[in-house]
Amino acid sequence: MYVRTLPVTREHPPMPAPLPGTMHITDKEFQAFRKLIFHEAGISLSDAKRALVASRLARRLRHFGFTSYTQYYNHLMDQDPDGHERVQMVNCLTTNKTNFFRESHHFTFLREHVLPWLQEQVRQGTPARMRFWSAGCSTGEEPYSLAMTVREALPSLANWDLRILASDIDTSVLQAAERGIYTADRLDGVSDAQQRRHFLRGRGQWEGTYQVKPELQQIITFRRINLNEEPWPIRTRFHVILCRNVVIYFNRETQRRLFERFADAL
Ligand SMILES: C[S@@+](CC[C@H](N)C(=O)[O-])C[C@H]1O[C@@H](n2cnc3c(N)ncnc32)[C@H](O)[C@@H]1O
Repeated sequence: MYVRTLPVTREHPPMPAPLPGTMHITDKEFQAFRKLIFHEAGISLSDAKRALVASRLARRLRHFGFTSYTQYYNHLMDQDPDGHERVQMVNCLTTNKTNFFRESHHFTFLREHVLPWLQEQVRQGTPARMRFWSAGCSTGEEPYSLAMTVREALPSLANWDLRILASDIDTSVLQAAERGIYTADRLDGVSDAQQRRHFLRGRGQWEGTYQVKPELQQIITFRRINLNEEPWPIRTRFHVILCRNVVIYFNRETQRRLFERFADAL
């Protein structure tokens, strides 16, 4: 690993007060975590993200009973041979905001242009096969929106070999995505008709929650994939790749490389 461990020191230069419940992070500590998250996930953090990094990592410090970010950093460097804690660190530093049918014009475009084009290809003799990739799928709203769009547009879906790959670097959001259970307030953007068609309503202890129906879940494979790892553990080529609100966290060079690789995967 190219990042060296940091010397533990109890003396810090004067800095603004940390957020409540957060420990003080020194500039040196922030720079070390900044390098580490870039190395692990390609995420570029600006100076303005210092308080955010401190508050997001604070719960890992509390988990271990550490009193400084240096102790946590050194733990990652020296005591984490299987990389388990590194995964937790990445989980803390990703931003996972999402919702169903976010930027709905993308789904309109799929319904009105992409799916009719694929149907036309099949009429002309191409196998009835569709491969989609939701790259950076967060808690699953994006791949499920995609699956709903396809099911609604193609009533004779049984004749199609349809698969959606939904991937993210963050293992905690992937677990939630795979479960497919959402509270009512998360279903903004899903019409009543879609709710009835694609979701099961929770009863008893699950009252107020909605679970994606198995027929929708079966179309989707959830996997942890770091978009910046090379090569990806994928053999398929895709008809459509959705990678939305993900590359905003990457620098220009990382974005350029990723777009080249997406183009090769189409
Ligand atoms: C803001 S969410 C976007 C979710 C969804 N695509 C949308 O537009 O609503 C960004 C997601 O990208 C994921 N992400 C960030 N860096 C990643 C990387 N290097 N590889 C894979 N996923 C990454 C984060 O974990 C997060 O869940």
